[in-house]
Amino acid sequence: MSIRKVVIPVAGWGTRSLPASKNVPKEMLPIYNKPAIQYIVEEAMGAGLTDVVLVTNREKRIIEDHFDYNLQLESVLERANKTEMLHQVRAVAEMVNTISIRQKRQLGLGHAVRCAREVVKDAPFGVMLGDDLIFGADAGIGQLVEAMKRFGLPAVGVCEVPRDKVNRYGIVDGEEIAPGIFRVRRLVEKPSVEEAPSNRAIVGRYLLTPDIFSHLDAVQPGKDGEIQLTDALQSLAASRGLLAVSMHGQRYDAGDWVEYLTANIHLALEDKTLHDDLLEKLSALLKSAGRK
Ligand code: G1P
Repeated sequence: MSIRKVVIPVAGWGTRSLPASKNVPKEMLPIYNKPAIQYIVEEAMGAGLTDVVLVTNREKRIIEDHFDYNLQLESVLERANKTEMLHQVRAVAEMVNTISIRQKRQLGLGHAVRCAREVVKDAPFGVMLGDDLIFGADAGIGQLVEAMKRFGLPAVGVCEVPRDKVNRYGIVDGEEIAPGIFRVRRLVEKPSVEEAPSNRAIVGRYLLTPDIFSHLDAVQPGKDGEIQLTDALQSLAASRGLLAVSMHGQRYDAGDWVEYLTANIHLALEDKTLHDDLLEKLSALLKSAGRK
């Protein structure tokens, strides 16, 4: 079984990231020195996924351009002997194949995934959401690829969230069949605290089988009047079965400013050339903030 395609819906407005995302797609806002979507694509690549299907709109061409050659820039870098930078810039173009599909109307995440049907055809495929950044060795969609190999079932990535935040996520109830792997009984999209069957939240990583499309055809508009992927997953869980896999590593919601900023610092601190200076500045900042 080869899993090559990953669908990344990028047609949303990114209102949580305004005004930064007014003309720059939120997926292109940098986390330290790379646009957020590059981390998503690198994670996909690490899991062996080579074909990225961007579900996009007219404003998002710059995302496709990022994963393409920029010959003019390359020749400038070449002439200036900036070899290391030249390699880095070229490597982004050579990471993955990109395929773009227009989502002509934004009718929900389920609708965005359904737009990819003709490209995905009849093989299992990944879905990754750009807001969910997951950092750490062996963390992310690769865990779902492993789970599908082991149990032969589609899977979603989950993390535990504080109970007062369950209304921001699809929430999963399931039975643990191996450490950190659950067989899903029930999923609810953005429930109230009282309705939530657990605090285990879907975090924007899915590995699906193509029968999801017939479930998507059957679902009615759900939460917020949108075609919800979570509702189709509920019927997939009931017919074929579905796993929920606890994600390793550290997850950040890039649409939340505190988490976005923390993700920047997390990654910048991993760069040895910045580490000491940055730490020094941060501790001075913390001291002066503490005094107020
Ligand atoms: C979507 C899904 C939700 C999931 C979340 C993860 O919601 O519908 O089930 O928990 O992504 O980020 P959104 O954040 O697009 O409203």
